[in-house]
Amino acid sequence: MDTIAGPSQMPTRPCRAAPGWPRSTPPHGLLGRAGTVLGLLAVLGLGIMAFTHLLARVSLPPACCQLHSKEEPLGSWEALGRESQPQRDSCQLVLAESFPQDLPYAAGSPSAQPLAQAWLQLLDSAQESIHVASYYWSLTGSDIGVNDSSSQLGEALLQKMQQLLARNVSLAVATSSSAPARNSTDLQVLAALGAQVRWVPMRQLTGGVLHSKFWVVDEQHVYMGSANMDWRSLTQVKELGAIIYNCSSLARDLEKTFQTYWVLGAPHATLPKTWPRNFSSHINRLRPYHGLFSGVPTTAYFSASPPALCPHGRTRDLDAVLAVMSDAREFLYVSVMEYFPTTRFSRPARYWPVLDNALRAAAFGQGVHVRLLVSCWLHTDPTTFPYLRSLQAFSNPTAGISVDVKVFIVPLGNHSSIPFSRVSHSKYMVTEKAAYIGTSNWSEDYFSTTSGVGLVVHQQAPRAQPGPTPVQEQLRQLFERDWHSHYAVGLDGRTPGQDCVWQG
Ligand SMILES: *[C@@H]1O[C@H](CO)[C@@H](O)[C@H](O)[C@H]1NC(C)=O
Ligand SMILES: *[C@@H]1O[C@H](CO)[C@@H](O)[C@H](O)[C@H]1NC(C)=O
Ligand SMILES: *[C@@H]1O[C@H](CO)[C@@H](O)[C@H](O)[C@H]1NC(C)=O
Ligand SMILES: *[C@@H]1O[C@H](CO)[C@@H](O)[C@H](O)[C@H]1NC(C)=O
Ligand SMILES: *[C@@H]1O[C@H](CO)[C@@H](O)[C@H](O)[C@H]1NC(C)=O
Ligand SMILES: *[C@@H]1O[C@H](CO)[C@@H](O)[C@H](O)[C@H]1NC(C)=O
Ligand SMILES: *[C@@H]1O[C@H](CO)[C@@H](O)[C@H](O)[C@H]1NC(C)=O
Repeated sequence: MDTIAGPSQMPTRPCRAAPGWPRSTPPHGLLGRAGTVLGLLAVLGLGIMAFTHLLARVSLPPACCQLHSKEEPLGSWEALGRESQPQRDSCQLVLAESFPQDLPYAAGSPSAQPLAQAWLQLLDSAQESIHVASYYWSLTGSDIGVNDSSSQLGEALLQKMQQLLARNVSLAVATSSSAPARNSTDLQVLAALGAQVRWVPMRQLTGGVLHSKFWVVDEQHVYMGSANMDWRSLTQVKELGAIIYNCSSLARDLEKTFQTYWVLGAPHATLPKTWPRNFSSHINRLRPYHGLFSGVPTTAYFSASPPALCPHGRTRDLDAVLAVMSDAREFLYVSVMEYFPTTRFSRPARYWPVLDNALRAAAFGQGVHVRLLVSCWLHTDPTTFPYLRSLQAFSNPTAGISVDVKVFIVPLGNHSSIPFSRVSHSKYMVTEKAAYIGTSNWSEDYFSTTSGVGLVVHQQAPRAQPGPTPVQEQLRQLFERDWHSHYAVGLDGRTPGQDCVWQG
């Protein structure tokens, strides 16, 4: 019932390696004290990856390439639909977003469901189990020594989780062993009530952090998006995510990614050379889920990073992003917190123009109108600006090349006492064909060492108006709202946000 009726139950393997994917990765330099040991581990890890790569090359089943030749572009739901019947799930997709307080928009602006409401509603629907993949937790103001009424929603969320545990709903949390908010007591409080918590030592395993943010509820519903388990994500940081209800096939697929973290969080866990078969995904870029979401023909799949955490059949997050970019024919709008065509954490730093090239190629070869909206805040590294200006300089409307770059600045208002807030933390992309919602900043490390997930979804436009608005159209409206707001500032006119600090 939950499997796509394909030629076989064999998981499919996306054949295409990411162009420009580094074949060898020097040990990462951010490791400090444990650098030598970890460097050795990284080298071992490399060996494993190289070995897996070799395995993948020698054992590539013929089915892979037949599949590849039959690959349908995203959006050809009807073509896929002829192969097999749509799913029987009654999936429903809802976009959710949060706004920093005091960030008014023009009356009547489009908006998604408030994230806090969406999260509480999702928890209300939980009957049996909640699995949370998280970077770190900080749901109370006292965690960071802040007394501000805007922490109340986060505190309510923590309370709700405590109530669910008291009702015997099980809670399993996979979180990064190296993370901010060391003072948070959230996980101790929940563990005392029976929650199972595993700290995943990603730094030792892959050289990154566990940066994924998603929930799987009752193996039926999922949330994924940019928001951390942090009260500021609900009231002081701008976030975007998606909730999919009543969708066991997609929920069970995302659960497999949760399970990769779960087993790596067990004591003495090591990165497997190849993931056991039961971690394989049969829902991916080449063979997405297809079914009716509230009656609307929909294709969807989840990607994951880093490659070491992609079992057989799982599309790599970078490949998902590149595929969405190369499928675009009209527009490609990107909203990300950070944009660097380089590594950010690995030393020595490397130039990594994979996404930058893909944006330029879309604008040049496909005549796509490219817009990039990047966050600018107190902690923005100013070395991002030459890269942004370079991309902007590529624009040449008279030659039919259209690229626009802006920065999004959340005014501080009277909230300057709240650290690490007042920023757009969203990570998404939208084209006329697909919505991509991710958890990763756009720089190399997020795709090569740090864990993240992406959701690629396409919905068919209704044949008759009025009909439900396809998700990519909903996301385009949210992007355009932000792009045309006065918080989005062109690179030449950054006057209100000198140093990206705008009192507002
Ligand atoms: C964490 O707690 C310690 C001791 O209570 C305190 O000194 C420190 O400032 C706290 N850190 C943060 C980020 O709140
Ligand atoms: C937090 O602030 C409120 C009023 O702004 C005050 O009544 C309360 O005592 C403060 N709480 C703490 C723990 O300082
Ligand atoms: C939860 O489980 C415990 C132990 O199985 C049981 O004693 C208790 O009644 C259950 N509580 C609820 C609300 O179901
Ligand atoms: C999910 O399915 C249940 C049972 O069919 C239904 O009551 C509920 O409204 C559905 N939820 C959503 C958000 O569609
Ligand atoms: C696969 O099976 C192993 C052993 O039974 C189990 O520990 C693991 O959680 C399973 N993985 C998934 C994704 O179900
Ligand atoms: C903060 O500013 C908002 C409007 O921007 C205002 O409504 C609110 O009262 C102010 N709060 C304080 C404590 O000054
Ligand atoms: C993304 O980049 C910002 C700015 O460097 C950093 O603070 C943040 O931790 C990174 N990861 C997240 C949370 O997206």
